[in-house]
Amino acid sequence: MKRTKIAGIGHYVPEQVIANSELEKLMDTTDEWIQERTGIQERRFGVRHKETTSTMGAEAARKAIEDAGIDKEEIDFIIFATLSPDYFFPGCGVLVQRELGISKTEIGALDIRNQCSGFVYGMSVADQFVRSGMYKKVLLIGAEMHSMGLDFTTRGRNVSVIFGDGAGAVVLQPTEDENQGILVSKLHSDGREAEELAFISPGCHGGYHGEKEKYGFSDNPFDTVFITQQMVDDALIYPNMNGQHVFKFAVKKFPEVIMEVLGEAGYKPADINLLIPHQANLRISQFVQRVLKLNDDQVYNNIQKYGNTTAASIPIALSEAYQLGKVKKGDLVCLAAFGSGFTWGANLLRW
Ligand code: UT7
Repeated sequence: MKRTKIAGIGHYVPEQVIANSELEKLMDTTDEWIQERTGIQERRFGVRHKETTSTMGAEAARKAIEDAGIDKEEIDFIIFATLSPDYFFPGCGVLVQRELGISKTEIGALDIRNQCSGFVYGMSVADQFVRSGMYKKVLLIGAEMHSMGLDFTTRGRNVSVIFGDGAGAVVLQPTEDENQGILVSKLHSDGREAEELAFISPGCHGGYHGEKEKYGFSDNPFDTVFITQQMVDDALIYPNMNGQHVFKFAVKKFPEVIMEVLGEAGYKPADINLLIPHQANLRISQFVQRVLKLNDDQVYNNIQKYGNTTAASIPIALSEAYQLGKVKKGDLVCLAAFGSGFTWGANLLRW
């Protein structure tokens, strides 16, 4: 049976390091609070107007392509996962195609809007394309430039201290080796929780939450009101999160979906060589580790250095773990994510 393997991997994080102490100067927070509640010590921010989600994604992609030992012209499909695209539209997939200068063919490019689970969803989408024989070398990127859109005042502190910028990428291609590549993927969502972690405006919903007068909406279909001053004043133009609610859901769904992929492939937690949980909060990762009774060397975390990089967190962590020699041929690797939507999922693969 044909499977899909990771043939190359790479990541890029911007050079600019932002320590917790920098945020202390902007809002009512402390290094102690941030470390105790999230494990984060510092994060990276891209250089304004020079780096963007797509340029960082392209940088990670170049490394993944080099690691795969292929020419960029061999790529036959691009998948880009992000919640912080360069533009509202078009998506970052086409921008990376341009940035990489892939010229041979007019290859397809698809953007995935699944926030924290974007990379895990992307792995599954790429897997379907590869196993069906439609594409042979799929470039999957997860990248975020969160720093352009966070509320750096005390009002936004529960969100803005968490997020960082960066990108990770993989090249996926077919393998005839049944004992290698993606074994199982499971994807889930629960749209009832959509607004618990959301970036409401701009959007055609308008973000008025039933308060259309307050936000300046009329019933006139020709009235163009996309963002009003009131939306800006009420912070609807920033990500908002009900942290405790998301936390509770996450610690339930992470173990569930990990057990689901393991169960389908006939494995148990002890068989995992490396679990890469989406780096949302170190406390969440530690909770999952305890529930699944995993040793420290079975879980890889790097949120301490990079914060939460949403769609980029898993490929950055996987790439870093690979470079550190923590992932070896034949290892059973589990990637698991949970986030806005809510959406969550996991991939189980044999390296
Ligand atoms: O990647 C997508 C998925 N996202 C997640 O999985 C995130 C899940 N949630 C979390 O990680 C945590 O809920 C947070 C890190 C966001 C917050 O930690 P918490 O322990 O749940 O804190 P909390 O929201 O319950 O807030 C506790 C207190 C509040 O003050 P009062 O009401 O007790 O006076 C907050 O206002 O901490 C306050 N607070 C802060 N204090 C200092 C919130 N943010 C900060 C801050 N610095 N940055």
